[in-house]
Formats: sequence, structure tokens, C-alpha cells
Amino acid sequence: MDFIQSPTTRIQTHPLIRPRRLRVTPALRAMIRETEINVKDFIYPLFVRHGYGRTPIASMPGIDQLSIEEALREATQAARLGVPAILLFGIPAMKDSIGMENFAPDGIVQQAIRAIKREIPEMVVITDVCLCEYTEHGHCGVLNMGEFYRPHLPQGYVLNDETLDILVRVALSHAESGADIVAPSGMMDGMVEAIRDGLDAAGFENVLILSYAVKYASSFYAPFRQAAEGAPKFGDRKSHQMDPANAREALREGQLDIEQGADMIMVKPALPYLDVVQRIRTAYPQIPLAAYNVSGEYAMLKAAALNGWLDERQTVLETLTSIKRAGADLIITYHALQAAQWLRE
Ligand code: PBG
Repeated sequence: MDFIQSPTTRIQTHPLIRPRRLRVTPALRAMIRETEINVKDFIYPLFVRHGYGRTPIASMPGIDQLSIEEALREATQAARLGVPAILLFGIPAMKDSIGMENFAPDGIVQQAIRAIKREIPEMVVITDVCLCEYTEHGHCGVLNMGEFYRPHLPQGYVLNDETLDILVRVALSHAESGADIVAPSGMMDGMVEAIRDGLDAAGFENVLILSYAVKYASSFYAPFRQAAEGAPKFGDRKSHQMDPANAREALREGQLDIEQGADMIMVKPALPYLDVVQRIRTAYPQIPLAAYNVSGEYAMLKAAALNGWLDERQTVLETLTSIKRAGADLIITYHALQAAQWLRE
């Protein structure tokens, strides 16, 4: 057996540089860690609806539709864990062609904003500003039909400028109820400028705009559409949301929204678009950037975890870290409460 060299007598050359030296102990690894997620990075979405109690969302285990009272309980829990912000989505009592409850003073979101700001004034309340949960057809804007019909545009097309008028009313109504940040998500051209003008004219110059500037027509929103009951009854959202194949176009969308006065911009979804997050971060280093870790991304990890195929805690924290590493300052995530708990332990 003397032809086998013992490790201690090896005489081969050795690597001069050993990156592994930096990984020998947990203390060393912690010292050189480049990215660290913090509870202050998280924004927690809530679905509010009329009535009492909670209604579980089948495709989003752990996430429920909430009554005002339950939303308040959930927001209180978030505040206790140090999560600084929530994002509200409303499920109205009735839907119609333009979504009247969306800008009603006693609409579900308006009530939720007032309740949360009254009880937890330090909580940053963000509201989604879009039509899809409120319209009977489930589209993000006014459709080209009936009283709005314009013959030179396709039947059923989402009308841009007519929709802007309604988005401004919705944003104003949220601001009047006490929202800190409005987040237009409909990808209408000029939505940021229109909302900024409307807010400023009404004296809400300090209400911020977080624009869903770069939002893709993604299949990963399916669980959300069940949660918010806002799936389109026909057709799709491809005439306004971006083609998943496009990245350079994202820079244009980002630029336009920054020029129109967005205070923060968003890329959505997150995981399949981390390259876009990074490009936006590099192109616009000056603007706070959020990434939306959407419902389908949540559902995938949850399903795998519930099957015992993945370790939930490890995969969630790795996912959130990767989104921040790509360049997001803020992460909108349904994992927020759980991740906040894990970060404390
Ligand atoms: C539109 C809106 C959607 C989401 C957030 N705002 C759905 C859509 O565009 O169809 C998706 C969020 C998610 O999937 O978690 N109001």
C-alpha cells in the first residue's frame, strides 16, 4: 500500500488563493455577508372585505380575506413584529362597469385605512389603485363599449384616458381616508402624472406614489386573482401589462414613471424577473425600488413546503435575500409576518 501517498506527505503544488478560507466559521461568514434582509424591507399585503371573520384563500395557505376587524388584528401583529408597511387590496360588496365602490367614502379600503391609521398611526398604509377588483368584467380599466364606446378603437379595449380619470378619484379617496402611499397598478400610460396632479391640487402633496412601473403580464398572479376576486371575465391584460420577453422596455417604463413624479417604483413579479430588478437598480440608482414577490411565487414555496419537498424557512429566507441582492430596497411579500418572526429568532 505504500504507493498511496498519505495526505501529510503530499508534495503537489497548492492553490495560492483559497476563497474557502473566508467560509470556515459562521463568524467569518457573517463578517463578509454582502446582503442582509431586514424586517424594515418588508411590505405585507392584506385583502379586506365586508362582513366578519376570515375566509381562507385556497391557493395561498396562510393568507385569508379579512374583515376590517381581522385586518386590524393582522396589521397589529405586523407592527409588533416591526413590519413597517401594509398594502391594502379591497373586495367590494358590488361590482359594476367602472367600480363605484373603489372611490366611495365608505368603501371597504377606505374603512380599512381609517381603522388602521386610527389604531396604529405609525403603520405606513399603502393602497393598490386599480379597477380590476371593482369592475364586473374584472379588467383594470374602463372598457371600450356602451356609453364609453369609441369606434376607432377595438371593442373591449381598456381605454387609457377614461381610466385615468377614475384612478385619480380612487387615489384621492384613499388619500382623504388617510393613506400614506398610493400604488397605481394598472399600467395605464400617464397614470403617475395624473395622480400626482390630482393629489397636489387637493393639498395631498405629501402623499407618496409607489408606481407599479414595470409590471409584466404574468401567469404568477393566478392565486391573487382568486384572493382579490379580480380575474378578467374574458381576455387578458396583455394590452397594458408588459410582455415577459422584454427587458429593455422596462427601462423606458421606469424612466417615464420617474419623470412623472413617482417617489418609488416597482418591478413585478420578482423571482422570474430578478434580471429586470437588477437592470432597473443599475439604470436608476437614485430611486427607491420595490419588488413584488407575488402570489404565485408564494404558492409555489408553500405547496412544496406543505408536501415536505422544501424547507420553508430556508427557502423563504433565501428567496427574500436573492430579491434584495438583485437590487430591491423593499419587498412586497405574503411571507412578511413569518419571515419577520424567523429573523427575530
Ligand atoms: C391589480 C393587481 C394584481 C396584483 C397586484 N395588483 C393582479 C393583476 O394584475 O392581475 C397581483 C399580486 C399578486 O399576484 O400577488 N390590482
